[in-house]
Amino acid sequence: HDQGHQPLYNALELSKRFYQAQLSRHDEGKRGIEYLKQRGLSGEIARDFALGYSLEGWDNLIKAIKPHSSIQQMEQAGLVINKEGTDRFYDRFRGRIMFPIRNHRGRVIAFGGRILGDGKPKYLNSPETPVFQKGNELYGLYEAKKANRSLEELLIVEGYMDVVALFQLGIPRAVATLGTACTRDHAKKLFRAVNRLVFCFDGDDAGRNAAWRALENILPELHDGRQAHFMFLDQGEDPDTLVRKIGKEAFEQEIKQSRSLVDYLFEALSQQTDINSMDGRARLSELAKPLIAKVPGQVLKQLMLEKLSQMVGITTEKLERAIQQKPAD
Ligand code: GTP
Ligand code: MN
Ligand code: MN
Ligand code: MN
Ligand code: MN
Repeated sequence: HDQGHQPLYNALELSKRFYQAQLSRHDEGKRGIEYLKQRGLSGEIARDFALGYSLEGWDNLIKAIKPHSSIQQMEQAGLVINKEGTDRFYDRFRGRIMFPIRNHRGRVIAFGGRILGDGKPKYLNSPETPVFQKGNELYGLYEAKKANRSLEELLIVEGYMDVVALFQLGIPRAVATLGTACTRDHAKKLFRAVNRLVFCFDGDDAGRNAAWRALENILPELHDGRQAHFMFLDQGEDPDTLVRKIGKEAFEQEIKQSRSLVDYLFEALSQQTDINSMDGRARLSELAKPLIAKVPGQVLKQLMLEKLSQMVGITTEKLERAIQQKPAD
């Protein structure tokens, strides 16, 4: 079916080149370069990630790629928007730094665009299209694989800027989910690439919620030998700001010290329950059981049971039996 998508890939590739040319050669593109400089990004990193700039104005992209792509193809690729009730179209991305999102073969499948300054929305993403399903793509995975001959670990971060900044400062193995939590499909894709994941979340409520959803989605993917760790940043910090503040070595140290999935899971659960009371311990094991049951890896499952056993004071044998029991109808 890739054959059928060729016109979309073509329109997206043409757009990527157009946005890159606007950044490096157009007068207005200087604003984009200034913005990137102010964010501490080098020309080299801009080239590695094929960053670009979309001009202000309604139809710059349409005019530029029209000779090679039909307006229907541009619309299908998410590049232009139909003005409601008319047969006219306008550019989706205007006045933004453009981040091409590439698939595993390096083909551009979508864009993220950041406004230069404080306007809204801060980031605009391509809509879902026949070649772009958000819950299935990871920004930076292509670049990380390209930069590392043998990739062993991936960091999962929130934002485009985090991926690019970490890469530039010597940690070229971060990927970002695109405004969604880490899905089951993401987890599958990530574990096809490496055996070790380190999730890096903001220390705010949104970050903690995203971490829990990620945990639930990776549990079924945890066969033996696969690992996941969790790292929470201080309030107000993200990987971009942190790596610029403390540098590569200290950031690598933070990664090494990140919490294991098992520690994180039980810490989060024990915050919801009072493990000093009998009721609390019963509740903790009720909460933990379905989560442990999701894990296919026998070694990890055993580790989790042992940890739970220590916490609630019930033997692992009894816990195991309880987990295998079918819930009453
Ligand atoms: P900077 O402010 O440029 O450093 O970006 P950031 O990546 O730190 O932004 P933030 O932490 O606010 O958001 C993390 C990610 O969520 C972004 O990289 C986007 O993918 C997504 N996101 C943020 N703001 C918006 C928005 O306004 N709309 C959409 N659709 N996604 C957003
Ligand atoms: Mn398809
Ligand atoms: Mn946040
Ligand atoms: Mn940021
Ligand atoms: Mn951020």
